[in-house]
Order: sequence, then C-alpha cells, then structure tokens
Amino acid sequence: MKNIGGKYKVPGPVSSAVFEEESKFMAPGLQSIALFSRLVIKKARGVRVTDLDGNNYIDFTAGIGVGSVGHAHPHYVKVLSEQIARANFGSFCSENRLEFLKLLTSMTPPGIDAVQMYSGGAEAVEAALRLAKSVTHKYEFAAFWGGFHGKTGGVMGMLGDTSFKAGLGPLMPGVYLPGPYAYCYRCRLGLEHPGCGFACLEWFKEGLKRQSTHNIAGILIEPIQGTAGNVVPPKGYMNAVQELCRELDALLIADEMITGFGRTGRAWGVDRDGIIPDVMTLGKGIGGGFPMSALASSMEAASAKPFGNPSGSSSSYGGNPMAAAAGRAVLEIIKNENLIDNSRRIGAILRNSLLELKEHCGIIGDVRGEGLMIGVELVSDRKTKEPLRKELTRQLFHECLDRGLISMCYGYNIRINPPLIITEDEAMEGFQALKGALLAIEARV
Ligand SMILES: Cc1ncc(COP(=O)(O)O)c(C=O)c1O
Repeated sequence: MKNIGGKYKVPGPVSSAVFEEESKFMAPGLQSIALFSRLVIKKARGVRVTDLDGNNYIDFTAGIGVGSVGHAHPHYVKVLSEQIARANFGSFCSENRLEFLKLLTSMTPPGIDAVQMYSGGAEAVEAALRLAKSVTHKYEFAAFWGGFHGKTGGVMGMLGDTSFKAGLGPLMPGVYLPGPYAYCYRCRLGLEHPGCGFACLEWFKEGLKRQSTHNIAGILIEPIQGTAGNVVPPKGYMNAVQELCRELDALLIADEMITGFGRTGRAWGVDRDGIIPDVMTLGKGIGGGFPMSALASSMEAASAKPFGNPSGSSSSYGGNPMAAAAGRAVLEIIKNENLIDNSRRIGAILRNSLLELKEHCGIIGDVRGEGLMIGVELVSDRKTKEPLRKELTRQLFHECLDRGLISMCYGYNIRINPPLIITEDEAMEGFQALKGALLAIEARV
C-alpha cells in the first residue's frame, strides 16, 4: 500500500478504469464528492480509506456526516452480522429495536420520548410535517434561507438554497422562506451581532406575517446549517426561534440530521441553547451508514391523528430489524467510547489549528464550528469577503486528494465532518494535508 503524502495523482489508473466503466450505467447527479473525486473504494477501516490503486486517505467527510462510528467498527459489524442471519425485514418488534429505542430516548431531551423510524432524511422531515399538521390542525410551514432538508416534494419548497429546486416547480403550497438564517459572517442585513438583536429573525417574522395565511403548523430549522457551510448562529438564536414558534402556536421542528448524535460535541444541536423542540428529525449518524432516519417527539404529539393511526406514520423499511440493529450498535459505540466528548475535544483541536493557520493563510476568511462540525470559508479578499473562485476550490479538492485527504472543499465553504471516532493523530494528519493544499492554492490567488 502507498502512504499518504502527496506523491500520487488521484484517481490512479485502476480506479479510473472502473469509474469510467460504471459511468456508462450510472445516471448523472451523484453526490459531487463522488463525481469530482472519481474514487473507487477497495476497503475502509475507521477514518482510513483505501482505493483500488492502493492510495490511502483520511476521511474528513464521513459520507457527509453519515459514518459516525467510522467504517467497519467491530461492534457494528458483529451486531449487524448477527441480525442479518436471524431476520432482515418487516416491522415487527425486535429486541434490538427495543434496546435502540431505550438508548435513543435516554439521550433525547426530557419529554421527547416517542420515536418513529424511516429510511432517509427527507422522508423523516416529510413525516414531521405530517405530524405537525396532525397536532395543530394547521397547514403552513416556514423555513430559513440556506437550510437544507432533502429533495422530496413536500420538503423542496423549504430548501433555502438557490439551485436544488430550480426548474422543479410548482412547489407545495403553504410553504414560506421569509428570511435569512443567522449567518453572521455574511449578514444579509449588514448588521453585527449582538448589536443587531437578531434583526434577521424580526425580518423573518414580518415576512411570514405578510406571506402566510396565519396558519403556521411548524417552523423547520437546522440548529447549525450543514449544507450552507456548517454555519453556526450566535448563542440564543434557537431560543428566539422557539419564542417565535410559541407566538405563532406552531411546532418547532429541529432538523438534527447532521447536528445529532454528538456531531457538535453535544448530544444534539439544540443543546447548545438548552431548548427542547417539539419535534426532532434524525438521520445520517444515527445508522452509521445503514439507511435509516427517525423523528422524535412527545408521545402525546406522536399520537395525534391521523399521524398516530395504525399505519398512519409508518413506511416499508422504517424500523426494520437491520435498521434497529444498526441504530443500537451505533448508540452503544457512541456511549461506550465517549464519542460525544471525543467530538468536542478533537473538534476544538482542529478548530484551533485552523485558526492558527488563518493567521498566515490569507484565503481563510472564517473558521467556525462546534465539535466535529467545522466550517472554513475561503475568500479571495478578506476585506470584501469575495468567495474564492470555483476553479480554485476545485483545485483545492484535488490537492487534498493528492495529499491523502478526502474533504468537502470543492466550494468556498469547506465542511469538515470526520467520523466521531477520529483520534488526535488522525485529525492532525488530515489537517497537515489540508494545510499543504490550502497554502498551495493561496500561492495561485
Ligand atoms: C439537515 C438535513 N436534513 C435532511 C437531509 C436529507 O437527508 P437525505 O439525503 O437522507 O434525504 C439532509 C441531507 O443532507 C440534511 O443535511
């Protein structure tokens, strides 16, 4: 096997041949990271990945926040292997599911004690919308600029980005995006926190008053925006959003798809502001790679009809025995290996290293994050905050790969979310690769 160190161009000839062959059959539109890297993975253990040419990488992406416990964790392999040999489909109760639910509800905030399981993130968000309608008997929803919640029909109108839904209208009626998230590095109102007093949320509230018919069932929000670039709002923001929900008699739906399960160095993203939302949508890290998701709320809310009717909130794969085994194994690993603490500790080390690098690397405009959910914003000019040009960020991505690092750095908002099991040595190995790549790109600006 070859070593990490920038000696090889990626992808190598063997990977390239397989990738080219697969491209003849694979429809376009795969995740950018897979398309741009053209990697073909031979095997992976923990945070280390080896491709077909024998090149090794440190993985700073974890399948975009999915691989919470890394690849092929022995406990994960054992629990799933045992389950697949026993029973692998159906919605019947299983011992693993009971253990999973007990573990999960011991982690969720007080009162969030009912869980329904699904197989993908957008499906869980859709279910949360149905639950909110069932509870409130209202039918409108609001979400924030920059938010990402999946690509299904009911959710698409709540995407606060500018590209995913373009050309795919009409969107579900009764869905509003009245204003920006608290993305303070690029404040849309040109203000500064704390002086602004969350003026962006006031703007959101005013917009909602004018756009809606005053029948808001729920407000959907990421406690930290992932797809937008791991954007961390100021402390107290989620409290203010919760206050707005109370004013509107609407449910607060916290989309914890990325921020959940210790990713931010706390169990949940909402823990940062100490709030208890009405509904949490869960996914990604919950299954350690197995396609599963969930929503969690109070038993009272989950019992509201029609959501709470028999088959009212179910799906073909939700809560199947394999998902239950995966969820159980992941939660046991998170607990037994203190991965929430690890996320906080390694995240702080990585962030400090990046902040030090910012001192002498002029293309780094902002470093932010909580735990192992870190954002680095690249600019061509720190004063104007002009985003670093796309062709340079694409070069950065390949510079990282050539140095043995898989990272989401193909846009000006770099997202760093390695598996939660990453050690300090592995994190620093990845950081050195990123540093080398960033300095190489800075020289080209
Ligand atoms: C916050 C958030 N919610 C929902 C989703 C949708 O998840 P899925 O891709 O599993 O449908 C994502 C996916 O990236 C996400 O980041």
